[in-house]
Amino acid sequence: MQILNRRPRRNRQTAAMRALVEENTLTLNDFIFPMFVQEGSGAKIAIKSMPGIFRFSLDTLLHEIAEIHSLGIRSICLFPNYPEAKKDKYGSESLVKDTLYLKALSEIKSKFPDIVLMTDVALDPYSSDGHDGVVENGKILNDETVEILTKMSIAQAKAGADIIGPSDMMDGRIGAIRRGLDSEGFTDVSIMAYTAKYASAFYGPFRDALESAPKFGDKKTYQMNPANVKEAILEAQLDFEEGADIMMVKPAFSYLDVIKALKDNFNIPISAYNVSGEYAMIKAAAQNGWIDGEKAMMEMLLSMKRAGADIILSYFAKEVAVLLNE
Ligand code: PBG
Repeated sequence: MQILNRRPRRNRQTAAMRALVEENTLTLNDFIFPMFVQEGSGAKIAIKSMPGIFRFSLDTLLHEIAEIHSLGIRSICLFPNYPEAKKDKYGSESLVKDTLYLKALSEIKSKFPDIVLMTDVALDPYSSDGHDGVVENGKILNDETVEILTKMSIAQAKAGADIIGPSDMMDGRIGAIRRGLDSEGFTDVSIMAYTAKYASAFYGPFRDALESAPKFGDKKTYQMNPANVKEAILEAQLDFEEGADIMMVKPAFSYLDVIKALKDNFNIPISAYNVSGEYAMIKAAAQNGWIDGEKAMMEMLLSMKRAGADIILSYFAKEVAVLLNE
């Protein structure tokens, strides 16, 4: 027999003992459920590359929100799908009074006033170029884009948004949006900055859902290089100074070190976006019987909390809710 003062296995002997010493726990309070809305009525369109996720028309979306709300999900983030015919260079549709997205936001807010409603601010759902900003001669223009993003944010706040979510990665947009919101009296509307958003291969299924893939090139002149982490801290310094209330790392699973870096360096909540490709990988492997999908899902999400995420945006939120309610 070995003489050991420390036997870490003692704390793992029973389920109750393991629960007692557990360091991180997933609760529904931490989740934001991303949802997709499209035009029409009675629609519930399956997204092929995201099994279990659908695009809803506003009527069916409201039913779905009632359901997830009753399961205990308290926050959602809405993304719109627009037909090609409504897209242009400047994403003008985003500012049209009573456009689908703004109408959806205000209906959701009036039917579910206690749900935290987060928006998406970027040009891509409305852009004929499929980019997050205005394109000129193949370049994405920064300051011109920020002006539009600020107007979008104000329109969304007017529609009832609780959290504005700029997902575009233009420089200076957090400060500009904050000033814009304040000047219109929306001092209580929060901003969750997509602070460290990487030019990632894991967004493919999302672009299927929105039909928003770039028409040319990639997003590398505005989204971050996956090789960099110091640069994420610079982005965070700027967003913090410009007034972000919450800062996001995206994607989450391949960027746990970035989540940790932001958590260690800033005293505001840090969120992680468990993106569409991460969701699709688990679903595909589970459907093939190669992994236990439910266990892999929980392990993946827990890793984000352990890395320091206070909030997780995830397409798994509904499944987690069902599981935690069992
Ligand atoms: C674009 C946007 C993207 C996502 C959220 N907002 C894709 C992109 O940058 O091309 C991806 C979300 C996901 O993959 O789940 N503004």
